[in-house]
Amino acid sequence: MDPLHLLVRWAHVAGMAAILGGALLLWWLAARRPPLDDRLTTRVAERYEWIFWAAIGLQVMTGVGNLGAFGNALPPPESAWGTKLTIKLVAVLALALFSVPRTLIVAAGSEADTTPHLSLPLLYGSTTVIVIGILGLAVWLAHG
Ligand code: HEM
Repeated sequence: MDPLHLLVRWAHVAGMAAILGGALLLWWLAARRPPLDDRLTTRVAERYEWIFWAAIGLQVMTGVGNLGAFGNALPPPESAWGTKLTIKLVAVLALALFSVPRTLIVAAGSEADTTPHLSLPLLYGSTTVIVIGILGLAVWLAHG
């Protein structure tokens, strides 16, 4: 593996870690009983939404970079590997679609200076579960 591909692969894994780590942290912060300082949770959530979308952009760019590294050896879509990749990409799309309302709810909550108590644990819990699913698919893809 050449150094550039190693760097791209490292960035892909680092982006995944940022998405997953932040979602786990917020799930824990939002679900804590008795609640921690709500403003803290809201502020971390606002910050995370920026990081999340930047990291999704990075995942798409570096993911395409990973594909490019296969060059002419890229397996066809109808191969077993191609099917796994398709499933992973559909899951990534689902994560992005699910995240639009999540970001909007967090943004609306911070503008109104309130925390939507019930929805935050649910939103970040679901985000964590979807990301762990994608992680499983990615490891299955990369390491059989
Ligand atoms: C459009 C988006 C994406 C594309 C095109 C893409 C593509 C790829 C490709 C081609 C590989 C290499 C597979 C192999 O060597 O067989 C890979 C590995 C991986 N991807 Fe993605 N990916 C995307 C998004 C994501 C997301 C959102 C996550 C996590 C949330 C993720 C996590 C991983 C992980 C953990 C690996 C394994 C890396 C390794 O073991 O070296 N990917 N991805």
